[in-house]
Amino acid sequence: MILTIDGPAGAGKSSVTRRLADRLGFQFLDTGSMYRAVTWAAMEAGVNFDVEAELVPLMESIEIQLRDDGVLVNGVDVTDRIRTRDVTLNVSSIADSVPIRERLVDLQRHLAAAGNYVCEGRDQGTIVFPDAFCKIYLTASPEQRARRRMEQLATTGQFVDYDQVLREQAIRDRQDETRPFGALTRAVDAVEVNTDHKSMTEVVDELEEIARSRLPADYER
Ligand code: DC
Repeated sequence: MILTIDGPAGAGKSSVTRRLADRLGFQFLDTGSMYRAVTWAAMEAGVNFDVEAELVPLMESIEIQLRDDGVLVNGVDVTDRIRTRDVTLNVSSIADSVPIRERLVDLQRHLAAAGNYVCEGRDQGTIVFPDAFCKIYLTASPEQRARRRMEQLATTGQFVDYDQVLREQAIRDRQDETRPFGALTRAVDAVEVNTDHKSMTEVVDELEEIARSRLPADYER
C-alpha cells in the first residue's frame, strides 16, 4: 500500500513522513534525496547540467541507496553533502531533466513495490503512484517555510539571511510548479493540510487520522 505526501519545500514533509510511517508501520521514501544525490554526483563529476548526453551516462553509472539513517551514492555516504546550499541551488536543473525523472520514477516504483510505503516528493500522488490509497498535499505559508528552512540550515552550521532564503525559495517554488514533466501540483484526490501554527505532533496526528480512515479495516498497527 502506498500513501503519498507532496507539497512545496519547507512544508515539513520530511519530518512528518518519517513519523507518520513509523506510526503506521510503513517504510518511507524521501524522493527529494534521490534528486539531490544525482545532483551531488553531477557536481562531483563536473557534468554540464544542461547537456542531456552527459547526464544520462552519469545517471547510469551511479547506484543510489536509501537507508533509514542516510543516503549512499556508489557506497559513499552523502547524507549531509546532499543537504548543502550548493546542492539545493542546483537540484532544480537535475529535476527538470526528463530522462533523469523517468529513471528515478522507475526506481521509486520498484522500491515501493516491496511493501507499505509513505512516499514524499512533488509528483508522488500525481505521476508516480496515481492509485495510492491516500494522498496528502502538505502546505504552509512562504514565510513559515522560509523560517523552517533557515533553522534547518543553521543546524548544519549554514547561516543564511531570512530574506535570501525567502527569495531563493520563491525561485524554487516557481521551478517546481512550472516543470514540464513532474511539476508540483495537488492531485485532484489529495487532502490538503496546512501546517502553519501547528506543532509536528498535531500535523502527524491529523495525517494519521486521515490515513487510518482510508486503511483497510483489517490493517493492524
Ligand atoms: O524535497 P527536496 O527539497 O529534498 O527536493 C529536492 C528537489 O528535488 C526539489 O527542487 C524538487 C525536486 N523533486 C522533484 O522534482 N520531484 C520529487 N518527487 C522530489 C523532489
